[in-house]
Amino acid sequence: MTTIRQLLPTPAAIADPDADPEATLERLADLYAYPDPVPATGWVRATMVSTLDGSATGADEKSGSISATGDRAVFSVLRGLADAIVVGAGTARTEGYRVPAAKPAFAARRARLGQQPVPLLAVLTRSGVLPPTLTGEDGRPAPGVEALATDPPEAIEKLAGRGLRRILLEGGPQILGQVAAAGCLDELCLTLSPLLVGGGGPRILSGAPVELSLTAAHLLTADGLLVGRWLIDR
Ligand SMILES: NC(=O)c1ccc[n+]([C@@H]2O[C@H](COP(=O)([O-])OP(=O)(O)OC[C@H]3O[C@@H](n4cnc5c(N)ncnc54)[C@H](OP(=O)(O)O)[C@@H]3O)[C@@H](O)[C@H]2O)c1
Repeated sequence: MTTIRQLLPTPAAIADPDADPEATLERLADLYAYPDPVPATGWVRATMVSTLDGSATGADEKSGSISATGDRAVFSVLRGLADAIVVGAGTARTEGYRVPAAKPAFAARRARLGQQPVPLLAVLTRSGVLPPTLTGEDGRPAPGVEALATDPPEAIEKLAGRGLRRILLEGGPQILGQVAAAGCLDELCLTLSPLLVGGGGPRILSGAPVELSLTAAHLLTADGLLVGRWLIDR
């Protein structure tokens, strides 16, 4: 059984996804609400998971193997709050991404905020190669999916210009590195898994060096994971 507890800023019980999934989603949705109003240029929230030794993947080269139930509850809420999910094609291919589906638990909240029932899935790709799970039989992106051949900051600007301002960046390290280097990252939702995996797995950011400092908005614990929300200092 998973219980989610808040450690920072003040210790508190948050919820139990197994005993009361609806209340858990509501509590988490409030904790992770995007700024209101959302800036016209968009709000870019990245979500990543890392082992204690800094690997963004397990031995299977995927992130699911270093995650757990409590983290997945938060991940589901983050998707439920977003206007657009942005992901690199590398992650979409490796993780076998699927077209996001509507979550009934978020329907009322999304309608209240004027959001579409389902977030758009924007896949950044120069090659245009999407996994078959994201395309129709003609090989084109399935409804609800777009392939964007632009640099991540330009993609974010375009999405925000279309009113898709609540951005959820799901990585991977190449894309997060570019977004951070361009100065357009607003927050990082980082889960630390109590695992050591060694090997040569990627860190959560790759590419050019960046120097950003962050402040914790909150730190939760669930299933032994540390689930943090960190805001970029401006
Ligand atoms: N721990 C975590 O939270 C987490 C999260 C996400 C992913 N991961 C892991 O990270 C690994 C994948 O990460 P990655 O860094 O290799 O890949 P990635 O960042 O997901 O995607 C890289 C791909 O994005 C496209 N791309 C990169 N820069 C671009 C640009 N400027 N404009 C347009 N498209 C651009 C290219 O796609 P094309 O090749 O199609 O041109 C490139 O191959 C996987 O093992 C995944 O499991 C871990």
